[in-house]
Amino acid sequence: MTRAFYFFLTFVLFYHIAGHTHSDKPMVLLLSFDGFRWDYLLKHNLTNFNSIKKNGTHAEYMINSFSTVTFPNHWTLVTGLYEESHGIIQNIMYDPVLNKTFNLGMPETYTKEWFGQNKLTEPIWATNQKAGNGRYSAAEWLGSNLEFSGQNITTAKNPINFGAIYFDEPDHYGHLYGPDSKEIAEKLQELDGDLGYLLDQLKSHHLFDKVNLIITSDHGMDSISEKTVIFLEDYIDDNLYDAYGSRACYSIFVKDATNIELVYQKFKAIKNIDVYKKDEIPESLRYKYNVRIGDMILVSHLGYAMYLKKIPIDWTLTNGDHGYYNNETSMFPIFLAHGPAFKKSYKSRVFNNVDLYPLMCFILGVQPAYNNGTLENVIDMLVFKVANQNIQQNFIFVLLLLIPAVLVGMTGMFVCFTIKNSPKGTVMTEYGYDTISNCEDGEIEGVNNDQSRLIA
Ligand SMILES: *[C@@H]1O[C@H](CO)[C@@H](O)[C@H](O)[C@H]1NC(C)=O
Ligand SMILES: *[C@@H]1O[C@H](CO)[C@@H](O)[C@H](O)[C@H]1NC(C)=O
Ligand SMILES: *[C@@H]1O[C@H](CO)[C@@H](O)[C@H](O)[C@H]1NC(C)=O
Ligand SMILES: *[C@@H]1O[C@H](CO)[C@@H](O)[C@H](O)[C@H]1NC(C)=O
Ligand SMILES: *[C@@H]1O[C@H](CO)[C@@H](O)[C@H](O)[C@H]1NC(C)=O
Ligand SMILES: *[C@@H]1O[C@H](CO)[C@@H](O)[C@H](O)[C@H]1NC(C)=O
Repeated sequence: MTRAFYFFLTFVLFYHIAGHTHSDKPMVLLLSFDGFRWDYLLKHNLTNFNSIKKNGTHAEYMINSFSTVTFPNHWTLVTGLYEESHGIIQNIMYDPVLNKTFNLGMPETYTKEWFGQNKLTEPIWATNQKAGNGRYSAAEWLGSNLEFSGQNITTAKNPINFGAIYFDEPDHYGHLYGPDSKEIAEKLQELDGDLGYLLDQLKSHHLFDKVNLIITSDHGMDSISEKTVIFLEDYIDDNLYDAYGSRACYSIFVKDATNIELVYQKFKAIKNIDVYKKDEIPESLRYKYNVRIGDMILVSHLGYAMYLKKIPIDWTLTNGDHGYYNNETSMFPIFLAHGPAFKKSYKSRVFNNVDLYPLMCFILGVQPAYNNGTLENVIDMLVFKVANQNIQQNFIFVLLLLIPAVLVGMTGMFVCFTIKNSPKGTVMTEYGYDTISNCEDGEIEGVNNDQSRLIA
């Protein structure tokens, strides 16, 4: 995508956010810079990124999901589901049930059968818009062309309160020149300028202090080179299997099931890669329970790059990759946030990217769909005066809250319970931000599920 196109997107987005009147709902604007490794921010002087970091909330880094590639992690960012649960497990993947292949290079494959494999999947823009009551979403993101939960966001005509923009850099430059190159340094300055433009637009529309801006990424980047290449063809007959994925991680389907052990042993003999039969894949990777994960997976060690065939490679333009284990520090993405919901000059603890979905739902005041995130991991970064609450709403809320709480005789616990389980506690998320901060950790424990039903 060209820079002009980003500006066009930004313009479109502003038309919707600021076009007529601002939305009176809590607003979230999610930006993802593909391949923005967390420590680019420490190694480069990025004035605009730093101003958000300094004035808002940031984490040292965020932990992404395995495999650490673009489509899977972008779908995780907006759904809060692990890759094995949402089904976008690679940029290129095969589904034996559909008997079809998905390919990021083929937009005609961006269909519901791929993105909606799990019927529980609901991207944040659909969750927001579904809540109605004047909530509208717009997004330029993977999967945003598709309808979920009856919500179509392709034709927004009203002021939105949720927006998402995807930038395809610095990933591209990271692949071409590597994470330590002067080219990536220049690209990062250019992106910092783009962010500056966006911040200026927010300010000139009097939105900067109203919008909750979240800046993050899908994965980091590490160096690869001629010295760390692995041609699988040198070790195993590639007619025995089909491989789907990228240089750091493949899902392997063995063509004839009687060859599974043979193929496994051949891969196992190769240095600097790990091979796991499907049932051996560590649970901690959350990358196992899906038909799109084949008979086994291959994961190369950091900095190693697997090619299926011995093809000629232009190493002047092949210097970086990602897709490695999500516990490798070079794979971690950035997390910065600024706006009325976020604490100022605050460093949050490290968290997982599945936690962003419940965080955004909480800020927007909407009921999350099923997800793998934990609001508790991120709640500390929020202040609790998010919406422009009017006194009457607060009053109604307090009444709603107190009546059942007094009945069970434990007001404090009741309030706290609702935060802990707030994926279910919509009433609280809509109006109750300032009551919550009184909770002690001790009070959160030991409250049983029965109380949640009182407000359900
Ligand atoms: C970073 O850049 C800003 C503006 O471009 C400049 O004022 C500042 O001195 C630079 N800081 C460092 C440490 O280079
Ligand atoms: C950050 O805060 C400082 C001091 O309050 C202010 O001068 C600066 O403009 C702020 N930057 C942003 C991006 O809000
Ligand atoms: C899968 O699709 C291919 C064509 O794309 C076809 O040749 C093959 O027979 C199909 N396999 C099954 C099991 O339906
Ligand atoms: C969603 O938008 C697309 C493209 O504009 C359109 O084809 C489709 O019919 C819409 N669906 C609904 C439910 O509005
Ligand atoms: C990262 O995770 C992999 C897979 O679970 C494991 O084998 C490896 O030891 C871990 N590395 C670190 C540094 O924890
Ligand atoms: C992730 O969430 C989905 C949907 O609720 C659920 O089916 C799955 O078991 C969860 N995964 C884990 C590891 O808890």
